[in-house]
Amino acid sequence: MATERTLSIIKPDATGRNLTGRINAKFEEAGLRIVAQKRIRMSMADAEAFYAVHKERPFFGELTAFMASGPVVVQVLEGEGAIVKNRDVMGATNPADAAPGTIRAEFAQSVGENSVHGSDAPETAAEEIAFFFSGREIVG
Ligand code: CMP
Repeated sequence: MATERTLSIIKPDATGRNLTGRINAKFEEAGLRIVAQKRIRMSMADAEAFYAVHKERPFFGELTAFMASGPVVVQVLEGEGAIVKNRDVMGATNPADAAPGTIRAEFAQSVGENSVHGSDAPETAAEEIAFFFSGREIVG
């Protein structure tokens, strides 16, 4: 399997509970390398642009307000099959459905406050990485 990169976001519910290190340990234990990382505060405009694909969904307002409500840690994870591997480590979107040992099973509070975001496909990974990082900020 090819080496890939994927965009990860540690969401405000997790940064607020000081879980960045414990979540990063899950990524590293799964063989994902954190090749870029920064802690930022997304504006509402940032959140609306990042999640534009969901703008017709009933939860769009709640989602964007939550993502702008506190610090997030945006990261690029690298590894073999990194996109699927990261989704496996995160667990299902709704923590009630997430497998034991996954980040969302251990840390998420609800389907909205679900601790982490990860890209879902190679095309979205490339777009989402470029949304937050320039090439010189990613050091593999
Ligand atoms: P994420 O992977 O960041 O991509 C879109 C997000 O929308 C998703 O994680 C969830 O946190 C959020 N989401 C999905 N369904 C709902 C919902 N019913 N209510 C609130 N947020 C939701």
